[in-house]
Amino acid sequence: MSITHPSFGTLDDDRIIIFDTTLRDGEQSPGFSMNLNEKIRMAEALTEIGVDVLEAGFAIASPGDFESVKAIAESIGQRDNTPVLASLARAGQMDVLRAAEALRSAKRKRIHIVIATSDLHMKYKLRLSPDEVIAATVESVTLARQHADDVEWSAEDATRSDPDFLCRVIEAAIGAGATTINLPDTVGYALPEDMERMYSNVRNRVPGIEKIVLSTHNHNDLGLGVANTIASIRAGARQVECTINGIGERAGNASLEEIVMAVRTRQDAIPFSNRIVTKQLLQISKLLATITGFDVQPNKAIVGRNAFAHEAGIHQDGVLKHAGTYEIMTPESVGWQKSSLVMGKHSGRAAFRDKLKTLGYSIGDNQLNDAFRRFKDLADRKKVVWDEDIVALVDDEVMRDHQRIRFVSLDLHAGSKSPPRAELELEVDGVVKSATSGGDGPVDATFKAIQQIFPHTANLVLFSVGAVTEGTDAQAKTTVRLEENGKMVDGQGADTDTIVASARAYVHALNKLLVKRVRTEPQALSA
Ligand code: KIV
Ligand code: ZN
Repeated sequence: MSITHPSFGTLDDDRIIIFDTTLRDGEQSPGFSMNLNEKIRMAEALTEIGVDVLEAGFAIASPGDFESVKAIAESIGQRDNTPVLASLARAGQMDVLRAAEALRSAKRKRIHIVIATSDLHMKYKLRLSPDEVIAATVESVTLARQHADDVEWSAEDATRSDPDFLCRVIEAAIGAGATTINLPDTVGYALPEDMERMYSNVRNRVPGIEKIVLSTHNHNDLGLGVANTIASIRAGARQVECTINGIGERAGNASLEEIVMAVRTRQDAIPFSNRIVTKQLLQISKLLATITGFDVQPNKAIVGRNAFAHEAGIHQDGVLKHAGTYEIMTPESVGWQKSSLVMGKHSGRAAFRDKLKTLGYSIGDNQLNDAFRRFKDLADRKKVVWDEDIVALVDDEVMRDHQRIRFVSLDLHAGSKSPPRAELELEVDGVVKSATSGGDGPVDATFKAIQQIFPHTANLVLFSVGAVTEGTDAQAKTTVRLEENGKMVDGQGADTDTIVASARAYVHALNKLLVKRVRTEPQALSA
């Protein structure tokens, strides 16, 4: 029997709804927080790749969360191609009203209510009896339906909940008007066969279940998030909740790109369809990595650097004769280029613009000019400019929008004979300022010079250096994490000179902190 859903109309039997929670479950994990501009940028990219539901945040969690759900509702939520925008809410009046308020202007919206249903959570966390959980479910879903036609209800810790109670509370949620029922494996404990059992139980026993969308949401504590998602689809789930790069609480959520490509590659066993533009998977993965400062590991399925690299001679030989020998999907189908070269110092502006287009960027003329200048500079210093170098450079350029502080120049004296000294110039609010500083090494001297030019109270909590590509002429990609009053930001910088990349990353992080501060506590940083 087909399901008629308030947001999607009559659903084809083979349709899988892709619910992305990168900006909520993903963003709430330590170190992955994003500022408003970054969230909007991610939300735009998620809209472009075709997610059906975009969980924009947890409106009541903080004023910043509320503002970002609202801003996404007011921007992306007005477009013709907007996904359904969701905000999470606990099963209480205040939460539901806050979610409804943040989503108010969205053309398509969903209030997503969660309450725990396992004995362990009800007894120790909620301190509620099962009957009280049912009452809270009914009250909150009823209230949510007064503000949205599309209401999702989630049974937190469903996989460790008593199956009889789970059926009772789901029946109550459907009776109160829930249009999607989500059964999360909140702690990543379940095995694929547990998922099959849980969905079959619910589908066989809950009256009215055939009229609503069943959803699955799996964490990766045992590395089974995607496997459990696939098992759930095969057992009747028609919505999957997932994140780009699998980010999320603890070990993360099931990854969107892995689920989508598993379904696409194994149509023989999982004959379902979705609307994701798979050719943009790599680009969105890289965008998220740039924004958060966390690259995926090289062997990450689909989007890792080695996902389509063949090292063993025997494999290379096979792939050259017939790609299918060692490739179960084409690299192009997820956004990789077969040839990952070739730009150098002789390439002109048109070639550079064309390259950006192939890499999926469309940037304005001013940004293009700046990026091209930096590309030429890089090409002068580096034998080969790889696609990854260009991506790092352009991402760096785009992220530099709306910045109060800009890196101008750095002159460094270092080595084993004399103490390090950094002579730094920064532009602050349009005025170039300079400082000279010593320190316990060139990086320390540089960071101290930044502190002199722009005094601040933020603490440096992480500094990491990586190479964008290989070789001694590779660009360094640095990440600086700053913390102030419990707020954490990551800045990135890329340059062939590691110390310049470090200065750029520090300045980038400071700018992000200023944006964060302006949003929450206007007076905080001094200049
Ligand atoms: O893991 C979980 O249970 C959740 C819910 C809010 C859906 O993230
Ligand atoms: Zn979760």
